Parts: sequence; C-alpha cells; structure tokens
Amino acid sequence: MLVSIKFSIFLLALCCAVGALAAPSQASQDLSKRDWIGDIWDKIFGHKSATTTPAAPPSRTPPPAHATTAAHAPAVTTPPAKHGATTTPARTNAPTTPTHAPPAPPPPPSQPADPNAQGDLNPKTELAPLARLEARMGKFNRVFDTLPVKGAAANIPWPSTYWPSYLDGANYRWQGSNQLSPVEKYAKSFSWNAQQLADQVSYQHGIDSAKGRSCFTDWQCGSGAACVGRRGTGIFGKRYCVATWEGICDGWTGAALMLPEPKCSVTGPKGVEFTVGDLKGLMSSYFAAENGKHTSEISMAARCNTENPRKDENGYYTDATCDDATAGMLHIFVTNWFQKSKTGFAFDRDTTAQVWNQPVYGYSVKSSRDVTHAQALNLLGQSFHIDSRTTRIVRVQTEINWVSETSHWSDLSLPTSEVADSVLDATTYDYLLFLDTHGEIIGGEYFGDSKNDQPDFFWAPFAVEQNGVAYTAIKYQELLALWNKSVACN
Ligand SMILES: *[C@@H]1O[C@H](CO)[C@@H](O)[C@H](O)[C@H]1NC(C)=O
Repeated sequence: MLVSIKFSIFLLALCCAVGALAAPSQASQDLSKRDWIGDIWDKIFGHKSATTTPAAPPSRTPPPAHATTAAHAPAVTTPPAKHGATTTPARTNAPTTPTHAPPAPPPPPSQPADPNAQGDLNPKTELAPLARLEARMGKFNRVFDTLPVKGAAANIPWPSTYWPSYLDGANYRWQGSNQLSPVEKYAKSFSWNAQQLADQVSYQHGIDSAKGRSCFTDWQCGSGAACVGRRGTGIFGKRYCVATWEGICDGWTGAALMLPEPKCSVTGPKGVEFTVGDLKGLMSSYFAAENGKHTSEISMAARCNTENPRKDENGYYTDATCDDATAGMLHIFVTNWFQKSKTGFAFDRDTTAQVWNQPVYGYSVKSSRDVTHAQALNLLGQSFHIDSRTTRIVRVQTEINWVSETSHWSDLSLPTSEVADSVLDATTYDYLLFLDTHGEIIGGEYFGDSKNDQPDFFWAPFAVEQNGVAYTAIKYQELLALWNKSVACN
C-alpha cells in the first residue's frame, strides 16, 4: 500500500521521524526535547552529514529596480540567526497564559511511593517535564473529581499535507507541473535564485535529504520507500530512496497550533500569487527548518525509539519511554491543558518508533466509574502491581480530538470547515486511574484496545523566532506579512 500510494494524489497520513522534536542543538532551557530525543537525529542522519555537504546558500537574482538591495543583502552573507541571539523570543503568540502567582509546591505525598508499583506517573519522563510546564503555566490539578470532563481549543488548527520528502517537500509543484512550487514562488517574489533555494529545501526536507541512499528503481528501496529524483532529473540522473512517510508534519503541526488559518490567495512582491496551500507549505517549512530551531516548544513524556519494545508478563512495555505517556499523565495533561490554554497541543499518536504528529483540539470524557481492585486486575492482568497508596480506582474512557493531514492536494487551499469530514479525527482511550486518599491521580494504566496504544508524547510550540531566516533565505517576517493578508481577507 505504501508503495502504490506514492503515485496517486493521495497523501499518506504518516509522518514523520524528524523535525521540531529532533533538534540536535540550540534547544533553549525551556526545551526538554533533548531529554527525550536523545541522539535520534544523529542516528537517522549521521551518515548523511558524513557523506554530503550542505547545499550552497541561494544567491539573489539581480535585484529589481524598486527593491532596496541593502535590506536584502545581509541575508546572503549572514548565516541564519542563531537561537542564542534571541534566547527569549517574543511570546505574543504564546499559547499559555502566564500565571500571576508562583505555583504552589506540591503537597507531600501521604505515603512514600510504592517502589514496585506499575503505572505510576514517571518521575523522569513525566514529573520532571510537568514541573517545567507548571513553572510556565501554573499548577496542574490532579484531583480527579474536580477535573473537567471536556475541553476544546478556541479554533481548530488548520489542516495541511505533511509535504512528503519523496515529493521534495515544498519544492513540489502541487498545483500541477506547469505551476510554480511554493518555494519557486517565494524565490521569484523575493528575488532569490530559485534553484539554490530549492536545493536548500531539498537538502533539509526533500529528496536530497536522502543523499547517500542512491538507487535506480523502487525495488532497491524496500517497502514504504520510493526511488526518486529531483524535478528535472533525467533518466540517468541521481535518485535516492526516500521513505514515503517522511515529511514535515512537525512543521505543519506547530504552525497550525500557533497561527490562524489563511483564507485566500494573496499577491506578493513582483505580482506573484500565493495560494492558501502555497502559504501552508512555506510556513510549515519555516517551522520545520534547521531542525526546528526557529521555534520553541514544551513537551511531556518521552519518545519511544523502538519499533517492537519488550513487554512484561502482563503484556505492557517495560521501557519507560515506550510505556508513557502513562494513563495518569494523559488525563492530568489533557484536562489541565484546555483549562489553561485556548490553543491545542500536539501529540505523537503512534506509541512506538514512528512519529505521527497531529494537532489536538479537544477532548471529552465519555464515561467514568469506580471499579474494585479485583475488577482492575481482570483488566490489567493478575500480577499487575497497583500502587499500595491507591484507595480508589476509576475506569475512564476519553476521546481525544485531533486534525489529520489533508487527503487530497485539491483540499489544501480549502477552509477547514469544507474538509472537516476528512480531516477531523478522534481516538478513544480506555484506562484506569489510581487515586490516593486525597483523590489525586497517582498513576493509571491502559487496557483493552488502548493497551500499548497510548500517545507517545505531547508537545506544544510557545514561541517563533520573529526575525528568523530559514534555508538562508526565507524570512519569517516576509512570510508572516503574506500570511496575515491571507488571514484578514474575506
Ligand atoms: C501579523 O499579524 C500578527 C497578529 O495580528 C501581528 O502581531 C504581526 O505584527 C503581523 N505581522 C506582519 C508582518 O504583518
């Protein structure tokens, strides 16, 4: 299916192993992504940096008479701004509301944690990020009975494709072979050398990102990958194996959470027309560029990097990075998030090694009822060890509402309301929560279809580098000006 789908106009809603979550450096203090991303970037692309050199930065085409060359000149010679230069990016779009009072310290536990307990909130992968989150957003309530049973973002994040790498990311002429790609349009409008800018994009998020994996035909690439060359590649030109699920879903997800939906085509400098889909492609690329260094995120729970994690005797993953997000943290995080924030967050809905980033825009608790210890063990396994501090167990079913990738290129410029049927999706999670004498959630575990099928981790962008330049040429402010025009139109 993966192989056949690549020739159709269907976009596979699979995405993606790299990106905002894979920044190898430049993570600010706020970012815990390094904690859990580890060296995945090096693992995936270590061979690439060893065998290829980055594309040359694009040069300006001769400036148009009316352009002030000085304004554009620095971008050619100056490397892209580093995060260090703007350690505290403006937070005008921050999804979180700063609290006025410092968060209160957590109450001391009534008893020490049970050292043999399963399903407890994980101190390293969950409680440590929670402390960072609370420093930013205020205390997260853990008392089950006082947590809301539904919540939603003020606006649904806009859908997009994940700009598949095997189609060369935003270099793809998605409106037809005789229509310029989003990147070509940007180059034309802002007087960059189109080929050089396309090379930059391809090197980071396109076909050239797979340099080193040369091929002649698809069968050399195995299933789930295609043997592809850049546009204009002749029969004997260079081709590489590119996984068909790779793309910039992280860039799309982050941008969709932070920026309002663009509504109409707009005209940029030199009379270049940018459609809504073009703007989505360029903005998603900006958010993903340079390993996500132009954005700052918060995160919760650790990324699982194993395709088939080991299991214990009750069938649960033993590796803490794959065993989370725990059910207790899912409930605490989701219910508190929408109380504190008007925007959604992102989740990786694939529990194991693949990453499928999607924007979450709401949740609702479908049912909850108390169960006995014996009933709990029937659901979890007889040797499951429930924390001895537990005085109450609740069986909960919660629906998480999220946005999926657009399924057709022709949907890309349509408003969310017109493609709602195909992009609004939901996942239902079944789990038990373990409560202590205060009624606080101290842990939980998934059961039934949700067993080993929980979200891998959560994250949310809170800032964009306002003066950033992506791919050595694409300026956030230039892009944002076009974006704003498209948001404002009727
Ligand atoms: C775009 O709109 C946002 C929100 O209204 C505003 O803060 C920002 O200054 C605008 N930027 C540009 C470049 O138009």
